[in-house]
Amino acid sequence: MIVSTEGQRPRSKTLPFMDLQAQYNHAPESACSHRAVIVMDTDNFDWSSLGFDYIKTDYRYLSQWKDGSWDDGVLTEDNTLHISEGSTALHYGQQCFEGLKAYRCKDGSINLFRPDRNAIRMQQSCARLLMPEIPTDVFVEACKKVVLANERFIPPYGSGGALYLRPFLIGVGDNIGVHPAPQFIFSIFCVPVGAYFKGGMKPVNFMVSSYDRAAPYGTGAAKVGGNYAASLLPNKEAHEREFADCIYLDPATHTKIEEVGSANFFAITHDDVFVTPYSPSILPSITKYSLLELARDYLGLATQETDVPITDLDQYKEAGACGTAAVITPIGGIQYKDDFHVFYSETDVGPVTRRLYDTLTSIQVGDIEGPEGWVVKVK
Ligand SMILES: Cc1ncc(COP(=O)(O)O)c(C=O)c1O
Repeated sequence: MIVSTEGQRPRSKTLPFMDLQAQYNHAPESACSHRAVIVMDTDNFDWSSLGFDYIKTDYRYLSQWKDGSWDDGVLTEDNTLHISEGSTALHYGQQCFEGLKAYRCKDGSINLFRPDRNAIRMQQSCARLLMPEIPTDVFVEACKKVVLANERFIPPYGSGGALYLRPFLIGVGDNIGVHPAPQFIFSIFCVPVGAYFKGGMKPVNFMVSSYDRAAPYGTGAAKVGGNYAASLLPNKEAHEREFADCIYLDPATHTKIEEVGSANFFAITHDDVFVTPYSPSILPSITKYSLLELARDYLGLATQETDVPITDLDQYKEAGACGTAAVITPIGGIQYKDDFHVFYSETDVGPVTRRLYDTLTSIQVGDIEGPEGWVVKVK
């Protein structure tokens, strides 16, 4: 339930982290009394109704880079940024972001899933766009602080939801030429989410787009906003044709599958090989690399990262999209030119996809033990 308190908007506060934890423990009234504009009534919320929409949560992390170094960072209630009109993020797309989730476990504890991998991928995106990197330990600690400060927004264990964290790093400051920004902002906010694709763990259909989301030696492997701006029009066209999203082919030859909207692609051959495309213009999905390991070590499948020609779809009995937001979304069918190819079923989930999903999600919520270091306890 969303309650608007517009009209009584108080000034936002920033809190050093220690104070925040203390306030939650000892003086909840004062920590909560300045909540602004839109708050979610987390006590009376139907968690199963969550989709993938923006909801303002209580606190976000904010750190600034100036004169060669990052400051100590704060948690703030203010969900707006006041930046120079000359900011490179606005004109030249000098920005990158990440996405990861915090999960409520059966015993009430909270897990992050492989946050160090997101930190490393963000460092790689920063290197590609000449932005200062956030060290892994700073990134992971900031994630933990944001989760703790917004604990009431974590969907309960068993609801299928999670707290989605959105770290981002942008070039700001007075500037006009095409060069790196004089200043940068790193922030992490969070939103409680349910399924990304309508229906959750139900097969959905995709169409092959004739547009590209990235160039062969461009920024496809970096998580930068420009790739997503380029995907808005093809995504709209896919929705207009009643597909969940687009499949993008390799930009050089348009013959091999690369990405499924904002997720990676995988498929299972008739003789049980887990196959996923390899290409320098694909975003290296943390979920995909986790599934490669789980398929091999937990399900006993052979695995391959290789070319997946769009004309070879009949070699696969099951297919899916995988990512932090998509989790594992089974692909019912793919429209390519005039052909519509159905994999396992347009309505039912294939058994291998189901086992991969169960294994991955059970590790994320702590029901089964994952490989060393995958789960990071927040509390
Ligand atoms: C283009 C694209 N591919 C793949 C993924 C999946 O990556 P991950 O599993 O790290 O969330 C994402 C989401 O981050 C994405 O935006």
